[in-house]
Amino acid sequence: MGLVEISRQNGVSYLGCGLDRNFDLALSEGGTGLDHFAMRVDGENELEIYKKRLMKYNVKFGDKRNLEPCIKSAISFKLPSGIPMELVTVEDNTYQRVNVPAYNLRSPIAPLDADHMSILVPDVLAETNFLCDVLGFKISDIIQAPNTNQWMIAFLRMGILKNDIVINGGQLAQISNARQLHHLAWTMSNSEHMKFLIDRINWSGTPLEYGPARQGVGNISAYFWEPGGNRFEISTEMPTLNSDTRTKFIVPGFDKTASWGSPARASTGS
Ligand SMILES: [Fe+2]
Repeated sequence: MGLVEISRQNGVSYLGCGLDRNFDLALSEGGTGLDHFAMRVDGENELEIYKKRLMKYNVKFGDKRNLEPCIKSAISFKLPSGIPMELVTVEDNTYQRVNVPAYNLRSPIAPLDADHMSILVPDVLAETNFLCDVLGFKISDIIQAPNTNQWMIAFLRMGILKNDIVINGGQLAQISNARQLHHLAWTMSNSEHMKFLIDRINWSGTPLEYGPARQGVGNISAYFWEPGGNRFEISTEMPTLNSDTRTKFIVPGFDKTASWGSPARASTGS
């Protein structure tokens, strides 16, 4: 995928897209799924604001002592599902310095950045309420179960991009805790950039699971299972929304959103 290994220590490989010095993905052996994930905040002042919010809602958190590469400071706490989340400040804030790669080894086919993350949880409402009330996420779209008001999937944003975290519940979440990751998505410049990476994935002998397709959410994407057993998505044209855009409620089968692309093939994930 053209990612750069920024560091390897204590059995963990830290990989980045290479446009700044931060890692986007940390890999360790021992199974599939999610160990923890982090959201970058702009500095110590912003971190203090989040600490106050966590305290206000009686969320236990702690300062992380063994900091990962390029992380300046970090606090850690658990989402209602039990998934550990961190808020971090980083040493390199030249975020998405698109024209000046921080690493010469970066390949032009590499994604620009980690995009969004889609997680599997037992209670979509509880997870969504926590992320919105405590951390300030906004709800972009909700997919409701047919004939009930139950939330099946919630698409949450922190900034203007429509998706930062996707919360999946219902049948999708009937999976053991070791596999709380539905997929991790990567940002591509455009569909041409995506094509070059899909060619590389194809040459490696890895089939696409789905796409390229225009998703109902609006982005163009393709899914595949990386050899370690986790699902990746490569994505471009993610829609942007205003901070006050109202939540769109979608009932499967009744949505008029234009989408196209090949249907999903049988899953090859382990
Ligand atoms: Fe996605």
